[in-house]
Amino acid sequence: MNVALGVGGGIAAYKAAELARALMEHGFSVQAILTDAAQEFITPLTFAALTGRKVISNLFSAANPEGTLASAVEHISVAEQHDILVIAPATADLMAKLAHGLAGDFLTTTYLAFTGPVVLAPAMNSNMWNHPATRENLRILRERGHVIVEPEDGLLACGDVGPGRLAEPQKIADVVAGLAASGRRATVRQHRDLEGEVILITAGPTQEPLDAVRYLSNRSSGKMGYALAAGALERGARVILVAGPVHLDPPKGAEVIPVHTAVEMRAAVMEHLEESTIIIKAAAVADYHRVNAPNHKVKKTAARMSLELDPTPDILAELGRVKGDRLLVGFAAETENLVEEARRKLESKNCDMVVANLVSAEGEGFESDENEVVLVLRTGEAIPVKRAPKTAIAHRIFDEMIKLRLALHSSR
Ligand code: CTP
Repeated sequence: MNVALGVGGGIAAYKAAELARALMEHGFSVQAILTDAAQEFITPLTFAALTGRKVISNLFSAANPEGTLASAVEHISVAEQHDILVIAPATADLMAKLAHGLAGDFLTTTYLAFTGPVVLAPAMNSNMWNHPATRENLRILRERGHVIVEPEDGLLACGDVGPGRLAEPQKIADVVAGLAASGRRATVRQHRDLEGEVILITAGPTQEPLDAVRYLSNRSSGKMGYALAAGALERGARVILVAGPVHLDPPKGAEVIPVHTAVEMRAAVMEHLEESTIIIKAAAVADYHRVNAPNHKVKKTAARMSLELDPTPDILAELGRVKGDRLLVGFAAETENLVEEARRKLESKNCDMVVANLVSAEGEGFESDENEVVLVLRTGEAIPVKRAPKTAIAHRIFDEMIKLRLALHSSR
């Protein structure tokens, strides 16, 4: 598989050389593209030596011996010949150009001509990273479906300590490998295959009050549900996102209904059931709650205390009973017997698909940006999906969902 590696002009440009090597160790063939600014920090020769390929540096450069027509359209062929575009370091300037479609050099024109998945690894000073202009550009790029490998906290070249340090090259290479493994080659911009669908997605945890100030909850971050919402929007669906309390910006265009408790989530889901064509229950709903929780703060006493809890409404099971023709997708977080447990849930709750993941795996599941799942289908199939960013997993879920719907319809 071919990766185009765009290198921006920042102190972290030298790490892009390590990234080129790490990508090649994953079996990718790497074409480096350096901006003018990048060449102030690292020479094309370094990349040429590492990748064994001529480095592309500028669009209409006088230094480019073939510098006329052939190279003037080369960005189109580079865009066509590569499966994934990775930009590292993505500087604040580059991110602004990408967000707004400015195309003044080889890398930015290649970006515009490129229709496959894009991975951006930003690096910059913390204040630049936190600036509202950068945040806004980041939001635009994320919504476009690009995978962002967030910078790390640490000592920066400028002497400041904070977020902005380029993620470790090995980590960026792993993300690219995950994306490749997820099989998502075609671009989101080419897929409008969910147009006309109304997708109801639940995401995040629920919070069940114990008294006026305390609650029962879980570690769900909502990232998987939000990635599904963003993916569905990119593919043309209308999205109703019933969201428990999370710290995420909802994707633009989603109709967000914020809820706290399982009872509120059930009410919001049932209210929008009629208009939905697909329902995805990615939320980690609390299984128990305290009915009639006191609305004052319970005082501490010396005595031991115990809590009496009642089961919450099982929204997924209820949906399974009333779903009709709608596709119903549940989630199963398990610590053992993954596929068997998922099959049991699929049957007992009348789902069409259960997305099962092992919550014990390190760096995956609840709070992570990545996940590794098995898609258990009503047809009896169990499809393992290798570790990949949640955005890629979300698209894979939609790919399989579309196939499943066709299979279910044709078997009727
Ligand atoms: N779910 C739900 N309502 C609940 C509890 C869970 O809709 N009150 C949904 C979740 O959104 C998820 C699926 O059920 O899609 C799986 O949740 P999980 O808690 O793993 O399943 P349980 O049925 O509680 O099974 P078990 O406790 O045996 O794992």
